[in-house]
Amino acid sequence: MSAQDSTPLLTLQGVHAHYGKSHILHGIDLSVGRGEVVSLLGRNGAGRSTTMKSIMGLVDVTAGRIAMQGRDITNRRPFEIARAGLGFVPEEREVFANLTVDENLRMGMQPARSDAPAWTVDQMFDYFPRLKERRATRAGNLSGGEQQMLTMCRSLLGNPKVMLIDEPTEGLAPKIVEVIADVIRDIHRRGVSVVLVEQKLTIALKVSTRVSVMGHGRIVFEGPPPALQERQDVVQEWLAV
Ligand SMILES: Nc1ncnc2c1ncn2[C@@H]1O[C@H](COP(=O)(O)OP(=O)(O)OP(=O)(O)O)[C@@H](O)[C@H]1O
Ligand SMILES: [Mg+2]
Repeated sequence: MSAQDSTPLLTLQGVHAHYGKSHILHGIDLSVGRGEVVSLLGRNGAGRSTTMKSIMGLVDVTAGRIAMQGRDITNRRPFEIARAGLGFVPEEREVFANLTVDENLRMGMQPARSDAPAWTVDQMFDYFPRLKERRATRAGNLSGGEQQMLTMCRSLLGNPKVMLIDEPTEGLAPKIVEVIADVIRDIHRRGVSVVLVEQKLTIALKVSTRVSVMGHGRIVFEGPPPALQERQDVVQEWLAV
């Protein structure tokens, strides 16, 4: 299942989105195949999170189409989109503060699917032994890094075909950043496709099979990581800070 092929799992065609009267996404085209890790790169405000929220039904799509394995999911309700096989780890770590780590993990569990790997709580604890130590702790008392791990695990326990992960390493210590990068590589290896927003270019280039650079709500470059590294003009214009 981890072999890379060109069968598109998730496709966005000409997606537009607004917040009130502000026109944010201006025709996003994106396709994610099986076995791919696609990074959405760009500066602050480029529209990366809005793209993910549009996919998840958390922001209204005002034009265009989003499909999962050919099935239209545009503007469906978030739970229906999750049921179609999409997992989301938002920028704001979303834990149930009053529930324990164990209870949070159980909230994420979904039945196994025939065409996606099935995950267990023990596998989550193998990835993040720290969470096992804290399994009886209320999630609200976890550190930011631990909450990030918990959010990723809860989403993974939904057995997604595609995981959307928004800035998983933001604000984390270098050691945890490496652990999270390893986990992303491993879930990819086991057959989950990933769409990643990652501010750290070195990490994004290391884990991605393809990158899409966004600027002002548009895709301004798309290609494999080595192709981006050859385009220092793109890096300078759209990524350098
Ligand atoms: N809830 C909102 N209401 C109004 N405007 C918003 C809202 N959320 C985002 N925006 C605006 O939409 C644009 C795109 O934001 P988005 O969050 O998608 O950017 P991003 O690429 O994820 O960058 P970052 O996360 O670094 O801010 C920005 O100009 C932002 O100010
Ligand atoms: Mg964002």
